[in-house]
Amino acid sequence: MSARRKITVVGAGNVGATCAQVLATRDYADVVLVDIKEGLPQGKALDINQMGAVLGYEPNVTGSNGYEESAASEVVVITAGLPRSPGMSRDDLVSTNEKIVTDVTQKVIVQSPNAILIVVSNPLDAMCHVAKNISGWPKERVFGMAGILDTARFSTFISWETGTSVKDVQAMVLGGHGDQMVSVVSATTVGGIPLRKLVAEPQIKAMVERTAKGGGELVNLMGTSAWYAPGAAAAQMVDSIMLDEKRVLPCTAYLEGEYGIDGLYMGVPCKLGPKGIEQIIELDLSDEEQKAMQASSEAVREVVGVLST
Ligand code: LAC
Repeated sequence: MSARRKITVVGAGNVGATCAQVLATRDYADVVLVDIKEGLPQGKALDINQMGAVLGYEPNVTGSNGYEESAASEVVVITAGLPRSPGMSRDDLVSTNEKIVTDVTQKVIVQSPNAILIVVSNPLDAMCHVAKNISGWPKERVFGMAGILDTARFSTFISWETGTSVKDVQAMVLGGHGDQMVSVVSATTVGGIPLRKLVAEPQIKAMVERTAKGGGELVNLMGTSAWYAPGAAAAQMVDSIMLDEKRVLPCTAYLEGEYGIDGLYMGVPCKLGPKGIEQIIELDLSDEEQKAMQASSEAVREVVGVLST
């Protein structure tokens, strides 16, 4: 038995497997990949382990159809659920994925009662409510990944538009993980220079729109939803928690009055460390951005209203 710390990823589909793969390459913890489909998590774990011999990390991924292997995980990433098909919005998945996330959460909390839960399943904001309601855990330990992905999309477009390194783009996309997500242009810079100094308004508007529909663009291209950026984004949150990095990242957090929103999961800047969300940071948004946050919250509330939990 390895004495390394443990992370579990539930769902060995594209997003879960990518997250497990990125975490395996980081090489600081054991990774358990759980899926109900027989052979799938075992096969993907074996493949990721064998990749370690090529890339140079230890073969410490375990695939499992049950949850015993996941016992005493410090972080559990929930990616289980159906992905989108073309023509489907994330919200169309709500009832199916509510059942799946309920079942997964019930099993996870028995094995790892002290873990931190990172939800990735869609519709993301609503599935965070499911995980929180089912686990009964404090909000600091139950939250979701969406903002890093949405921000990564916006940053990529900014890098192309300005012809500058994506490493120098500091962008921020907040709100719900739906078409009403809020690109916070006022807080977006390239090398510290405000985006509006570098790019004209019509081009900014086009990038904001492409970001908001970014998930759908990928579904239309591939027939299913994206996985490389989503998997890596979830792994970045795990890193910040496990390694006590205190990264400030856009995460889907339970809001109780922050940004004028109460009793709802939404994407906001959060400081992540070993306790999970250690701080929610309130930005000064422009009036237009604040209005957009409100509109996004109303869209999220509508989906949350469909939940039976
Ligand atoms: C996306 C899906 C995963 O945005 O929500 O690509």
